[in-house]
Amino acid sequence: MGHRETMVEQFTRQAAGFAQAAALNDASAMQMLLTAARVRSSDVVLDVACGPGIVAAAFAAHAERVTGIDLTPEMVAQAQLRCAAQGLANVSFAVGDVAQLPYADRAFTIVTCRYALHHLPDPAGALAQMARVCAPGGRVVVADIVASSDPLIARRFNEAERARDPSHVRALTDDEILSSMRSADLRARIAGSYRLAVELESVLARSAPPDPGVVRAHFERAIATGETLGLEERRRDGAIHFAFPIVVAVGERA
Ligand SMILES: C[S@@+](CC[C@H](N)C(=O)[O-])C[C@H]1O[C@@H](n2cnc3c(N)ncnc32)[C@H](O)[C@@H]1O
Repeated sequence: MGHRETMVEQFTRQAAGFAQAAALNDASAMQMLLTAARVRSSDVVLDVACGPGIVAAAFAAHAERVTGIDLTPEMVAQAQLRCAAQGLANVSFAVGDVAQLPYADRAFTIVTCRYALHHLPDPAGALAQMARVCAPGGRVVVADIVASSDPLIARRFNEAERARDPSHVRALTDDEILSSMRSADLRARIAGSYRLAVELESVLARSAPPDPGVVRAHFERAIATGETLGLEERRRDGAIHFAFPIVVAVGERA
């Protein structure tokens, strides 16, 4: 099965659980994205790899118009349900690939992409597409899991993530995100960071990994040996807790 098919299969299974997950609907994390984007009522926003429309719906409350695009039809269906339930009339969604965004150059004033770069075989190519459809003076805003700058920790983390979700490719470091944005002619900076705290069993329940035992083993080994995954993983009250490190990066279009 190719990466694209793995991706769609994985996120078709995850769509309903993902839409409801508390960590993914965290209001303070969303506020950091809205603030970084400096969203105003005149903005025309594109949310790339929009999933179940959580980001698109949040921006729609502040912007003139929002478009969401995602490779997985079931995610787009979830996004449409969410926005209809919220009575949002200024949002529309499409099924499509970030590798070839079907929009004109400079069509949007804000382009967002949350928690998706690590799923892409060519994140730099995706950022170039996002920059292409962003108007001069506009902002490309990316929030994603970042890997440790220690390659051993990064490798252990990426292996554990691929066991949990075979559509995971590789988390970039924050420097790699910035340099990819700069290669796309964006003036890039880190606008903020936060930790997304979760409990392992609830993540496994919503992400439906091929073998949950393999994922548990990665975490148990890390806790027992101290060979960390870089996720502040620990056991508390009989459960394994950890926290994804997230950065929010902004690239201004000159
Ligand atoms: C972890 S989810 C994030 C969803 C959403 N951005 C959010 O933060 O709630 C990743 C999403 O990326 C989408 N995706 C993966 N590869 C893609 C591609 N090449 N083009 C468009 N969407 C893609 C998946 O279908 C999935 O919905």
